[in-house]
Amino acid sequence: MITGLLLYTQTDTPRNKWFIDHLVAVCATRGIDLRFAVYDPKHLADETFVRSFDFCVNRTRFVAVNRAFEACGKRCFNNAETVEIGNDKWLTYVLCKDLGIPVMDTCRLNSAAVSIAAPFVVKSRNGHGGNEVFWAQDTTMLANLPLSNASGYIAQEPASDTGVDVRVYVLGGEPIAAVKRTSAADFRSNYSLGGQVELFTPTSDQLRVIDALQGALQADYVGYDFILHNGAWVLNEIEDAVGARMLYSLCDYDVGEAFVRHIAKTMR
Ligand SMILES: Nc1ncnc2c1ncn2[C@@H]1O[C@H](COP(=O)(O)OP(=O)(O)O)[C@@H](O)[C@H]1O
Ligand SMILES: [Mg+2]
Repeated sequence: MITGLLLYTQTDTPRNKWFIDHLVAVCATRGIDLRFAVYDPKHLADETFVRSFDFCVNRTRFVAVNRAFEACGKRCFNNAETVEIGNDKWLTYVLCKDLGIPVMDTCRLNSAAVSIAAPFVVKSRNGHGGNEVFWAQDTTMLANLPLSNASGYIAQEPASDTGVDVRVYVLGGEPIAAVKRTSAADFRSNYSLGGQVELFTPTSDQLRVIDALQGALQADYVGYDFILHNGAWVLNEIEDAVGARMLYSLCDYDVGEAFVRHIAKTMR
């Protein structure tokens, strides 16, 4: 019997309850004993605990989970590179630059002078759900933003089209679906902030970018998010712990089932 650990943070657990139960149930039909746990750093220090699993589905966004499991030779979904880069908007920018993938001009906000011109989109490096994404019209507004000191920030050139983005879901290296999100009320199109969603057919340019990023990351299940700049789709971010609510709300495709099939195939 293959045994896996499914990890979420305490904060993320309630709203993912249905998906957690679904993954565990589908695993059971395939002879995989998937056990859910709320993330606790103490677990990672306990090698006996880590070694009692064959794999880990790490939905915490913490790369420390990968480090602990991979040190014991255990497979993680997603792997450490994806978790680390996908949860750091600056590292995502650097990777795209290395691969020649178009991205908006970006700089870190840790130096005195900003190296790009106003206006700016300011984001925490490790934020998600649009909660730590701000608009600053000029350097005065930038200086007055309510930024916490807890994490690093980036400043980015705004895309020509605001309030719109496209997420392409990629599972086992294959694009499985794409969703366009639009907001009439906010420059941020996040679903969790009330963005409208519809199914979308990925463009060949988007698929080329995804191929290049998949070549670098070999991610298992991720979302690749694009924003629209002067008619071209530009990579915005890589969503490591990508959700499933948006997809389930739009089509009959059972991404939980497909994810478990991918895990079963990989662990065979
Ligand atoms: N450079 C940008 N130009 C225009 N809109 C942007 C830009 N960056 C982000 N946005 C908008 O803000 C939303 C949230 O930003 P994002 O980088 O995805 O952060 P989060 O990880 O919090 O979702 C995006 O979905 C997009 O609609
Ligand atoms: Mg986003």
